[in-house]
Parts: sequence; structure tokens; C-alpha cells
Amino acid sequence: MSKKFVSIRDVKDHVGQEVTIGAWVANKSGKGKIAFLQLRDGTAYFQAVAFKPNFLEKFGETEGAAKFETIKKLSQETSVEVKGIVKEDERSKFGYELDITDLQVIGHSVDYPITPKEHGTDFLMDHRHLWLRSRKQMAIMQIRNAIIYATYEFFDQNGFIKFDSPILSGNAAEDSTELFETDYFGNTAYLSQSGQLYLEAGAMALGRVFDFGPVFRAEKSKTRRHLTEFWMMDAEYSFLSHEESLDLQEAYVKALIQGVLDRAPQALEILERDVELLKSYIAEPFKRISYDEAIDLLQAHEQDADTDYEHLEHGDDFGSPHETWISNHFGVPTFVTNYPAAIKAFYMKPVPGNPERVLCADLLAPEGYGEIIGGSIREDDYADLVAKMDELGMDKSEYEFYLDLRKYGSVPHGGFGIGIERMVTFVAGTKHIREAIPFPRMLHRLRP
Ligand code: 4AD
Ligand code: MG
Repeated sequence: MSKKFVSIRDVKDHVGQEVTIGAWVANKSGKGKIAFLQLRDGTAYFQAVAFKPNFLEKFGETEGAAKFETIKKLSQETSVEVKGIVKEDERSKFGYELDITDLQVIGHSVDYPITPKEHGTDFLMDHRHLWLRSRKQMAIMQIRNAIIYATYEFFDQNGFIKFDSPILSGNAAEDSTELFETDYFGNTAYLSQSGQLYLEAGAMALGRVFDFGPVFRAEKSKTRRHLTEFWMMDAEYSFLSHEESLDLQEAYVKALIQGVLDRAPQALEILERDVELLKSYIAEPFKRISYDEAIDLLQAHEQDADTDYEHLEHGDDFGSPHETWISNHFGVPTFVTNYPAAIKAFYMKPVPGNPERVLCADLLAPEGYGEIIGGSIREDDYADLVAKMDELGMDKSEYEFYLDLRKYGSVPHGGFGIGIERMVTFVAGTKHIREAIPFPRMLHRLRP
């Protein structure tokens, strides 16, 4: 297939040649006989230069002057077809520049709302469909893409099968207070909060499975870590111990960071992410501490001058200040294991000999990014699971399929779920989760 257009990312393979690029004008400058265009095509940004005498020479006085005038007057986000000769350019970060030989306007753009000046977040969020074109947003989406790619690669290499779980469901996978309801032909259906329960059926059928899809939480939280619709990757495996599960999670998170370093280095550069720090997270083992050790540590440091979190007793749940402190304390991603059963989901298996605690772990990302993974070993004993559901007053009729898995050849199994946007936010080093997904859904945001 012969290609008419060369993408900006690939101009490095065409030094000295004349190429055609389909792009948008992100910005322009220059004066007199020279015009500089900042071009973007989604793969990268680079500079193209138009020099008036070249146009006069090539197209003659009248047509040459008109063409140069068109270029000088191009407005922000006009789409163009540009011809030019690729040059190496040591002064630019990108390393290449285009010497324009011809240019055609494809689509005009009048009064583009997002100008190079500063805009408030609300304004940018209202124009999310256009904001996505900006350099930083392009970089974040490239990182998201690298993380998704690395996810499929990692699970394929580790013998997992992609097993898609349903989004419409008759039951709650997690906390039933955070369910979105919808009418299902006169009955109530819920939007999935996690594919986990269905994935457990997959693990009994296929051994090791993962899913990846949108999940929904009707959380009224207005934090920089919460979306109401986000993308979760759940993995589930039969015959695996708690320790082995943590090993797998650690290898997976390291593979994601490596995947971004390999596949989106320019994106990390645009975002000015500390790459050495990211590399250190791959080189160092992750920290593992128990919930009770974490509480002891928090209590021991609560009087320190640089801490400002609330006092916690054994049994209390962490707030984000506690999670932030713990992961900053160790400076590497940290697994907090074996939380109290009372603050975790119904399906988690108790720690042998300590029914107050469950075999689970949250992975806390450093630099204040908080929880990125939640996982556990599942209760695989039919009678114990029924007793737990009864204790919580759950309607077992909606979970018959789930209980069946404990009736027919039940085996030890476990898994975990990662919120892809939390991971993107962490690797990209951005502050707020809303920029980690193309069109965020939050408490006060359903449009665009
Ligand atoms: O810890 P959670 O609730 O765990 C589960 O749903 C399990 N069923 C997963 C499993 O074992 N298969 O959610 C998993 C992850 C969290 O660690 C967090 O990264 C992300 O999902 N998450 C959110 N991300 C964005 N916005 C929210 N409101 C989120 N709630 C959870
Ligand atoms: Mg969790």
C-alpha cells in the first residue's frame, strides 16, 4: 500500500526527502519573510518553516506571494496538507524540522476556543473534546495506550486468557451502596463495579483469566482519585497463593512502567516526568507490610512535625492522607496486606487462625498517588461463604452462580483489579485522574 501521508513521528526516516504531512496548526510565529508553524498530527509536534523567497522562486511572484500569505495567516487548529523537506535540527527537542515547499488548507478553524494562554479547569473540561488536542493531553493518552498495550502483552506472556465479563448485572460485585441502577425490561439491572465475580467462573474454566473494560461506581466522592466510570483490568487465577499473587501483581506493575518507558518516552518528556524515579520503581522490590504494621507505624509517627493525618485505631480504614504517608514513607510502591474483614468485601478469605483479618492487599503508589490495585484470595469454602453472606444480610439468590463455583471442584484462587486511570495518573505524574481518560465521568460531569 503506498501511503500519501507520513506521520510526524516517522519523519526521522525521511531526512532529506520531500514528504506530505496531514496535520493541524497548533501555533505559529515569525515575521517578514519567514513563518514558523507548530504542526501536530496526534503522533507528535514539530516545527515547519516557510521562507518567502523559496515560494516566489517556485510558484512565481503572484502565486508564490499568495501562498506565503496564506501560511502567515493560518489560524490555530486549521487542518492542512503540508509538503516539505525533512531536515535534522539539533536546536529543537524533537530533532527534526520541515522546510515547507507547499501547503493546502483542508479545514478552516475560526476562533478556536482554547488559546495558548492559561485557561481554568472548568473551561477546559467543558471543551474536553478540543482540549484532547493539546500537547499534554496527547502525551497522557499515549501513556494510557502504552499501559493498555503492556497489559495485554503481560497477560499473554504469562498464560492468561482474555475473558470478558458482562457490564449489565443482577448483583453487586463490591459495595452495594455504590451501584448504578438501570431499568432492564421492567426489572432492575446494575452496571458492573468489577468483573471479578464472573472472572472467578472463568478461572475455574480456563485457569488464568483477565478482563478489561469500563466499570461504574456511584461514588459521591469529589477527590482527584475518583471517577464514576473508569476502566478496570481484573485478573483471576486458580491454584495460587497470596504471596504468589503479590509477586504477579508486582511483576505486572513493573511491566506497565517499563512499557511506558519503552513505548512512550516522548510523552514522559512532554510531561516532565522524572524518568529516573520511574526506573527506580522497576529496579527496587516493592514493599510489603501488613495492615496492622501500617497502623502501628502511623500511630508511631502521628506526632511528627511533618504529618497531618487523623489518629487511627486497629480496625479503622485508611483515608487518603494515611495512604499517602505510608507510600511516601517507603518511597516505593507498597502492598498493605491483611486488612480487617469488616472493612473489606464479602468474598475475601480470612487469614488462617485470624478470622478478623482477610488475605488481601491494596497496592499503594508512591508520591501520594494512593491505591492503584485492590486484590485478595477468595473464600473458596461453600459453607463459610454462605455464612458470611448471611451475616451481611445479602440476597443469595442473585449469587447462585457464584456459590456454584464453590460446589463443583472448588480450589484456592485469587486475583486483583487495577484502575487503569489511577495507574495512568501515577505513571504520567499528573495531579488529577480526570485527565487520564478521554471523557471523564464524575459526580458533576457527564458532558461532553
Ligand atoms: O479496590 P477495588 O474496589 O477492587 C475491586 O473492585 C475488586 N473486585 C478487584 C478484583 O479483585 N478483581 O477496585 C480496584 C481498583 C482500585 O484499586 C482503584 O485503582 C480503582 O479500581 N478504583 C477506582 N478508580 C477510579 N475511580 C474510582 N471511583 C475507583 N474505585 C476503584
Ligand atoms: Mg479498593
